[in-house]
Amino acid sequence: MTEPSPPSAPPSPEPTGWTGYLAADGYVTELKNELGAVVGEHGRLIFAEGPPRPAAWAQNAWHDPVRIPILSIGDGARALRAIQRNWSLFAVAHHRRARLIEEKLPAVRPKPLVFPAPAPSAPLGSWTLLDPQTIVAAARCSSPFRHGEVEFAENKQAPPNRAYLKLWETFTRLGQRPQSGERCLDLGASPGGWSWVLHETGATVLAVDKAPLDPRIAALPRLEYRKASAFALDPSAVEPVDWLCSDVVCYPTRLLSLVRRWLDSGRARRFVCTLKFQGETDHETARAFAAIPGSQLMHLFHNKHELTWVKL
Ligand SMILES: C[S@@+](CC[C@H](N)C(=O)[O-])C[C@H]1O[C@@H](n2cnc3c(N)ncnc32)[C@H](O)[C@@H]1O
Repeated sequence: MTEPSPPSAPPSPEPTGWTGYLAADGYVTELKNELGAVVGEHGRLIFAEGPPRPAAWAQNAWHDPVRIPILSIGDGARALRAIQRNWSLFAVAHHRRARLIEEKLPAVRPKPLVFPAPAPSAPLGSWTLLDPQTIVAAARCSSPFRHGEVEFAENKQAPPNRAYLKLWETFTRLGQRPQSGERCLDLGASPGGWSWVLHETGATVLAVDKAPLDPRIAALPRLEYRKASAFALDPSAVEPVDWLCSDVVCYPTRLLSLVRRWLDSGRARRFVCTLKFQGETDHETARAFAAIPGSQLMHLFHNKHELTWVKL
């Protein structure tokens, strides 16, 4: 009687020396502009040599990806499972074969996040099949969410629009949000999605816009509305704020002047501001924001042709 053959050892991963960057949907050109030289481009998945570079337009970064030579679908699944449990496939080619490998991995089906629940803490790797015999996989990624896609259980009643999702995502990614009793300034507040989020934290809100707030937001108890231009507001004319938030529609250069004014005044502790690009992406101003010490610039899953600049 023949012995059953022992399961073969999973194939060994080899370091690539790269970092992988998954561009926000529709923003590959922006990401490549930031990265400079790249070694591979597969749809919106870009590989570049060396350790991670600042890349605001990347929705997820794949750290230390490895190359895994595989002879079969079973080989691929075994190799990934030998590294860790949780994986998400970003398929760029050989879709059927990639799906068959995926079917042999533990299912990962996260539920929509109920804000303000923390982001998931379990490691979630990303992988792709570059050719039928080669997996590229990263056990560690910059985002704990599948492909950087932050899905929330939405509130379809209270906020007047979906802009509130940007602020939910920002606070979730930061692991920080206003605390009860803090003071928030919401510039470009109308109709009031951000003001609603800020108010829900227990903070007080000064909402500034030339346009009116939704009446339900205007009626919130710890909210004051000022009909004014955000640019006309003198920092010394309001009490210092714990959070300055801006979602004003304006050229990024104009927002940069406003932010510098507030930074110089020392009357805002933390900032969350949307840079909104009109037409061409203004990379120069984006770089000027990114260069502000202690700050970060990112493209949220809920951003459009925008970036979110944060300083804590
Ligand atoms: C995208 S909307 C803001 C949405 C808001 N964050 C929310 O969650 O409902 C942009 C706002 O910027 C406002 N805005 C444009 N120029 C402004 C200015 N100079 N000062 C204040 N608000 C301005 C517009 O009136 C508009 O309400």
